[in-house]
Amino acid sequence: MVEKPLGQMSLREIRELARLRMPHEAWEHFMGAAESGATLRRNQRTFRRYLFRQKIFHDITKPDISIELFGRRIAMPAAIAPIGSFSLIGDDTERQVGEAAARVGTMIFASHAAHSSVRDWARATSAPIVFMGYLSRGREAVLDQAKQAEELGFAAVGITMDVVQPVKLGSVVPLSTKDGKPRRGQTASPKDIEWLKRQVSLPVVIKGIMSGEDARTAVEAGADALIVSNHGGRILDFNRAAIEAFPEVAEAVGKKVPLLLDSGIRSGGDIVKALALGAKAVLVGRPVGWGVGAAGVEGVVRVMDLLAEEISRVLIMTGTASIQEVSKSILIRDDGAGHRLS
Ligand SMILES: Cc1cc2nc3c(=O)[nH]c(=O)nc-3n(C[C@H](O)[C@H](O)[C@H](O)COP(=O)(O)O)c2cc1C
Repeated sequence: MVEKPLGQMSLREIRELARLRMPHEAWEHFMGAAESGATLRRNQRTFRRYLFRQKIFHDITKPDISIELFGRRIAMPAAIAPIGSFSLIGDDTERQVGEAAARVGTMIFASHAAHSSVRDWARATSAPIVFMGYLSRGREAVLDQAKQAEELGFAAVGITMDVVQPVKLGSVVPLSTKDGKPRRGQTASPKDIEWLKRQVSLPVVIKGIMSGEDARTAVEAGADALIVSNHGGRILDFNRAAIEAFPEVAEAVGKKVPLLLDSGIRSGGDIVKALALGAKAVLVGRPVGWGVGAAGVEGVVRVMDLLAEEISRVLIMTGTASIQEVSKSILIRDDGAGHRLS
């Protein structure tokens, strides 16, 4: 079989190449989800409930898809999600993802579970970085990295708080890919948010919010931004899709703090849908793993370029000149009746 040039590959084709090229263990780990996998599938499927309202009489040909996030201008409203296990793909994978983030001009969320320390990430990339801590490693460890992140000029710091139960793939809780130790759950408390807020002057981002109630709790404790996410379906089977929970969170705190979303983003259209519902930006998870697993730096660049091209196409075809102008008015809920969203 003659392989297509990377620049012509779809995300599906890149995913297939990654399956062939990634170590089997890494592939299984990236594709895995809790128990039946219902949440993972629902995350992607639920984006299909929304359709776009086409508009052709306008002269928009080059929409502005850049945004400002935590005071940094980035080239597109999609950043790289925190992934602790890039190193299962290869020893140099974290650095490659960092380099790709800089190449495409986006932001990278660096996981505490990654092999790279915040200093390693800062060396690996000139992209703006957000450090995402895990409290299961202890407050001291989070604080040590958060303080260094501050010195190194990171854009923000945060905590992934949804690992109240540990990640489960099928019926198995995998060992930590960082230190080989058993993963354990970590209770989540608003006191931890208040604590981190007192320690750092950077914006504090809380990841793993899936309800209006939790969103209010996090914001009252001082969170400066929230990530609506179900961890890509890796913790709770039969959770709601992130895009399903998003309106409830937006209603509760959307006027107070910027909201990000991940879990199920597979196209530029998915990104525009999340933005139209009120997200400031999205995070891209597994597709970045496929990109780097298929073709290193170039693979991630291709994945992000594909998403950017698709975002531009949707904006042009809906008569939207820039990300700022994206609103609910371009979405139609596919309930069979074609109702525009109010
Ligand atoms: C292999 C893998 C490792 C992950 N590691 C982390 C992590 O260390 N910290 C974290 O906050 N989220 C982690 N996540 C969750 C992602 O940040 C993100 O929420 C998820 O991938 C979104 O789902 P999607 O990739 O299906 O779109 C991980 C996800 C995957 C697939």
